[in-house]
Amino acid sequence: MSRTILRGRVLTFLDEPQGLEDTESYRYLEDGAVVIEDGKVVELTDYSPALAAGAEIFDHRPHLIMPGFIDTHLHYVQSQMIASYAGSLLEWLNTYTFVAEQKFAEQGHADHVVSAFYDELIRHGTTTAVAYCSVHPQSVDAYFAEAEKRNMLMIGGKVMMDRNAPEPLLDTAQSGYDDTTALIARWHGRGRGLYAISPRFALTSTPEQMEATRALVGEHPDCYMQTHLSENAAEVTYAMELYPQAKDYAGIYEDYGLLSPRSLMGHAIHLSHREAKLMGETGAVAVFCPTSNLFLGSGLFDHQRLRQCGVRIGVATDIGGGTSYSMLRTLDEAYKVLQLRGQRLTPLNAFYMTTLGNARALLLEGTIGSIMPGASADLVVLDARATPAMALRMSTVETLAEELFLLQTLGDDRSVAEAYVAGARAKSVL
Ligand code: GUN
Ligand code: ZN
Repeated sequence: MSRTILRGRVLTFLDEPQGLEDTESYRYLEDGAVVIEDGKVVELTDYSPALAAGAEIFDHRPHLIMPGFIDTHLHYVQSQMIASYAGSLLEWLNTYTFVAEQKFAEQGHADHVVSAFYDELIRHGTTTAVAYCSVHPQSVDAYFAEAEKRNMLMIGGKVMMDRNAPEPLLDTAQSGYDDTTALIARWHGRGRGLYAISPRFALTSTPEQMEATRALVGEHPDCYMQTHLSENAAEVTYAMELYPQAKDYAGIYEDYGLLSPRSLMGHAIHLSHREAKLMGETGAVAVFCPTSNLFLGSGLFDHQRLRQCGVRIGVATDIGGGTSYSMLRTLDEAYKVLQLRGQRLTPLNAFYMTTLGNARALLLEGTIGSIMPGASADLVVLDARATPAMALRMSTVETLAEELFLLQTLGDDRSVAEAYVAGARAKSVL
């Protein structure tokens, strides 16, 4: 059995921090050893030479070893139209998104995009992501085949949409159901892959497709369900026109039985108190996509109010509405969004969110998002001196929290010294 040891400063969260002084919420080792066997962490302990016998050692001092970042919402099929100039969500979807996604009808296009996309994830230290693929089943095959090749825990699914998009991008309630059923059989639970049933949003699904989604969720209770909710004011107005009998936007999904602890609701910005309470009661996850929400001018996520309503929260890039693959950049923008709301995101809470917090949002605590015995050795190694500006600032940093805040404020892919997937080096071997 091969044994690998990563030596360095190690940080892993045990629980959601209750503020900057909450030292109980994490474990930090100044000279730590992450002991890995067969792709899994078997021990996290202080480094000692006695551990080294028979092991391959990677010495990452003085860098910081953390659980690999998790991104709970993105669209890999938008990798070629990230950074497209548009005024707002619906204009952006019609002008760029639906054009880019049509290319996935061509055999071979997905294979080309998907390998570059996975390289970007790894370069940015993201070891697990939840993706929307395009409406075409082959985009899903390419996505999961690449995950399997790289031994990565990846979640995703075929977008279902049967109205309000260009004809070549439409499925039907029946074909969306049939294709999704076949894809779940092919990919859910194969390797580390997990399937997310993916009706794009209420605007692009007819009531018949929502019914088919209800059936899929009922037939596959261990799959995820992902969609978009209340991202943009014009979207909310149109959703209510399309579903006039619903109490509100979240009520549309409620009416089709689509709110559960396995439901990942992208954006969730413009919610009434009833909707926030409903999400809290059903356990559905609100996924905060700060770079996208600022870029598309969608609005400011209300973290505090959702937490007060007991809503589970994830954080994500939302590529290509989002403007960076980097979870560090994403945390920086999350901080700024909450500043505008008069709320504070401590650096401890920020790094909790993109590791253990997102693992909890995915009900995968113990598997990813922490460095603990039994967890997969999906890890990131962070260098807080990666650029001259960072090194200059780092020379005055005195605490772990200050270092984390520096990493999220000035850091990007250059701060990712290495990424490990199931115990194997992934970034330096790209
Ligand atoms: N709502 C429906 N589809 C999308 C999408 O692709 N990106 C974003 N940001 N919002 C959406
Ligand atoms: Zn999205």
